[in-house]
Amino acid sequence: ARAATIPLPAAGTLAAVREAARSCTRCDIHCLATQTVFGEGPADADVMVIGEQPGDHEDLVGRPFVGPAGTLFEEALKLAGIERDRLYVTNAVKHFKYQPRGKRRIHQKPNMGEVRQCRWWLRQELELVKPKLIVAMGATALFALTDMRQKLADIRSEPIAMEEGKTLFVTVHPSYLLRIVDEDLKQKEIDRFRGDFASVKRLM
Ligand code: URA
Repeated sequence: ARAATIPLPAAGTLAAVREAARSCTRCDIHCLATQTVFGEGPADADVMVIGEQPGDHEDLVGRPFVGPAGTLFEEALKLAGIERDRLYVTNAVKHFKYQPRGKRRIHQKPNMGEVRQCRWWLRQELELVKPKLIVAMGATALFALTDMRQKLADIRSEPIAMEEGKTLFVTVHPSYLLRIVDEDLKQKEIDRFRGDFASVKRLM
């Protein structure tokens, strides 16, 4: 039954793929989500940044990284001298997965099956935008791209050569920074995240 509801492959433009993704039912996350949060940015961007999945704010607004994680991300970009408008910014998973608890919506991590279903869209974004540099923020983005379930610490902050002359750069997810309780550690990790974007700028 599910196969019948999979949208047909869209006709080769980012706008068409984005439109098709609006009615995606490839996995069950769409059932509770407000809307598909597709990637945004220039269709010919040299750099693609990939997060995990939309959060509460993104789900309501319909754009990636517009909540608290987005603020940390934008601060890092600004300090590195990178204009967000030049980047194609997207997520591994395009719907917000959460558990309703009273009026609150508790964020839930997408599982591997959901990430695998949703990367159908990510692959189309990659094929159409053809970025030279791909920045994976967090383990979910890394897994969506490469099937690698590696510790981020082992491959973080260094450019990694990919096929077709592309470069992959891995950093942490900004939501991880928001969850750090110890203030000193938090600032240290934020500084390191910002340093990663300074490296990204040098690779652009
Ligand atoms: N976290 C993500 O991974 N993506 C968003 O768009 C927002 C928060």
